[in-house]
Amino acid sequence: MEKLNQLYEGKAKKVFATDDPEVLLVSYKDDATAFNGIKRGTIAGKGAINNRVTNYMMQLLEKEGVPTHFVKELSDRETLVKKVTIVPLEVIIRNISAGSFSKRCGVEEGIVFDEPTIEFSYKNDELGDPLINAYHAVALKLATWDEIETIKTLAFKVNSFMKAFFKKVGVDLVDFKLEFGRLSDGTIVLADEISPDTCRFWDSETHEKLDKDRFRRDLGHVEDAYQEMMKRIFGE
Ligand code: TMP
Ligand code: ASP
Repeated sequence: MEKLNQLYEGKAKKVFATDDPEVLLVSYKDDATAFNGIKRGTIAGKGAINNRVTNYMMQLLEKEGVPTHFVKELSDRETLVKKVTIVPLEVIIRNISAGSFSKRCGVEEGIVFDEPTIEFSYKNDELGDPLINAYHAVALKLATWDEIETIKTLAFKVNSFMKAFFKKVGVDLVDFKLEFGRLSDGTIVLADEISPDTCRFWDSETHEKLDKDRFRRDLGHVEDAYQEMMKRIFGE
């Protein structure tokens, strides 16, 4: 498959066309941003780690019956994915209180919920990705009710699988963000990435943060946290 022109450059990834109109090439960068791009930096080796972790999780999820955009890992930073139109929703699942939930609801971080929660943000940088509900998403024609139902079912399935997967390697899956896309025939598939950029991972024993919050909150040892997650997942 041939890599053609760049179509898009996001905060953490670049997207290129290929000679197959239904397939795109994603290239993961070491660039990191937070607070809607206000804080900027680099995390050495992040691109390669996020590429590998995302592809591994997507392949495991496919086996669990979650359709994804994954096609083929090409190199340490580059992956072929199915072309989708992204549903402009950030789908956030939470198992434990943290981050914007704690802030908005005025509760400490670390409260373990009896059941996972789901929320949607409207993916719109100018508005700062505002929290919306499913009715708002349908009113704005971001998704249909059928698509919302599919997305909810898939997101909770991803959570059940990943929560158990990470527990086995001594990591609590606190929360994470997913994005979904539509294939040309309208099928909803899991897209974007699943990585320490988009999940909160806490060591089950020490509760040490092993994710991008180390960058967002200037906690230091950012690269070490990403490397530690590689070790937990791949044993290296
Ligand atoms: P939040 O607590 O800041 O709303 O974040 C919830 C989860 O979503 C957390 O695991 C980090 C992830 N996330 C992203 O992947 N991208 C974003 O832009 C934000 C704000 C959060
Ligand atoms: N990547 C997001 C941004 O720069 C925010 C985040 O992950 O915290 O806005």
